[in-house]
Amino acid sequence: MKNCRAILKKLLENKEFLKILNDTADALGAGALILDVNGNILANIGHGETYSESEADSFPLNIKGEQAGYVKGSKKAQAIVSIIAYMLAAEYDKRDLIDEVSNRYKEINLFYDFTEKILDCNNLNDIVLMTLSLIKNFIKTDTVSIMLRNEETSWIDVITAYDYGEKTVKKSIAAYNGESIAEYVMMSGNAEIINDLSLDGWTAPDGGKSGSMMCSPLKVRDKVIGAICIATEKIAEFTSSDLKLFATLSHNVAVFVENVSLYKDLKEVFLSTVYTLAETIEMRDNYTGNHTKRVMEYSYAIGDALGMKNDELEILRLSAILHDIGKIGIRDSVLLKPSKLTDEEFALMKKHPVLGEEILKKIKGLEYVVPGVKHHHERHDGKGYPDGLKGDEIELNAKIISVADTFDAMTSDRPYRKGMDSKAALDELVRCSGTQFDEKIVNAFIKAYPHIDI
Ligand SMILES: [Fe+2]
Repeated sequence: MKNCRAILKKLLENKEFLKILNDTADALGAGALILDVNGNILANIGHGETYSESEADSFPLNIKGEQAGYVKGSKKAQAIVSIIAYMLAAEYDKRDLIDEVSNRYKEINLFYDFTEKILDCNNLNDIVLMTLSLIKNFIKTDTVSIMLRNEETSWIDVITAYDYGEKTVKKSIAAYNGESIAEYVMMSGNAEIINDLSLDGWTAPDGGKSGSMMCSPLKVRDKVIGAICIATEKIAEFTSSDLKLFATLSHNVAVFVENVSLYKDLKEVFLSTVYTLAETIEMRDNYTGNHTKRVMEYSYAIGDALGMKNDELEILRLSAILHDIGKIGIRDSVLLKPSKLTDEEFALMKKHPVLGEEILKKIKGLEYVVPGVKHHHERHDGKGYPDGLKGDEIELNAKIISVADTFDAMTSDRPYRKGMDSKAALDELVRCSGTQFDEKIVNAFIKAYPHIDI
């Protein structure tokens, strides 16, 4: 609802309009006082008529059911009232139209930015942060929260992005307790405005019990997959056009939230399939139980200590899981031989990185792991295999896997020897820095090792 009182006041500040009213009043020999709803005089129209207070009629000035003010005068003032009422209605419609155009413009801008920026989002955190950065340009808000029902725990997982300081916070809230607006909106399927949380008794997703909130379901093909809320610490007076804009935005968010979830599920299925494959191969060699898992954990810890980004760490993790996949092509008599290998057998064994490359390069989506797998037996000084690469010719993932793989080999028991303790193995890595290993990688492993929990 527009502010009708403000529209009346603004209208009476227009000198041309006042002249029309005065001319009309003079022609009719009428006079009128225009007052606001509190009885304050806004204008005194016409000069030709005198009337006593008791003779004066009072004519309300209403727009769409809301009183903007009133007119006092004799019956002749009725014409003045009609002109003002007509102009008020016209002004109201004009403002409506301006608001509509302005909202459309906002919507178009918002969705243009959203579509451009959403493509850079790989996870829910990114989506929440991006939504906050966009929506705060259009609607006042301090936080944006995305809430999804966790099918395993039956709780609601909440990710909140804050506009002051903190980036995102994750927590879970109990579902079905009736206190969560998210739960209510998910069940009703309708967006809601709560303009004063303290009066309505709702709790904001970040735990706030005062201020304002708007909450909209996240719907994809008529299925509610969660909810999105924006909340302010102080009362914000959200309007129905804010809600419309927010509800439309939430539809776009829903599509991407579902895509992220589907992508995550798919990635997990893929990772567990690859992991099972690597473990199956590992099971051929009884002496290396859990070798793949440990090499993966050590590699990941090194990459993390080196400050690698999430997507780089994912490729490193896959490369580590698959580093010995080529052993599938090494016959049992060589792979499982408990005693020392002959030169010929060792030459055969050294083929496993290239065999790994040949297997993996044919699999779509796994081409990124090939360098790490093919070169995990290269050495920093160029004396490794299969290509005798040295220094930075060796891809980073391969250098990392080399350190992780060697450390695990040194610390694992074999039928013919007991594994070294971790301190001795770390010392050995340091001793071989600059020859077998890149010093930077060894240093990162030494830094990360105390924090690895296997
Ligand atoms: Fe290997």
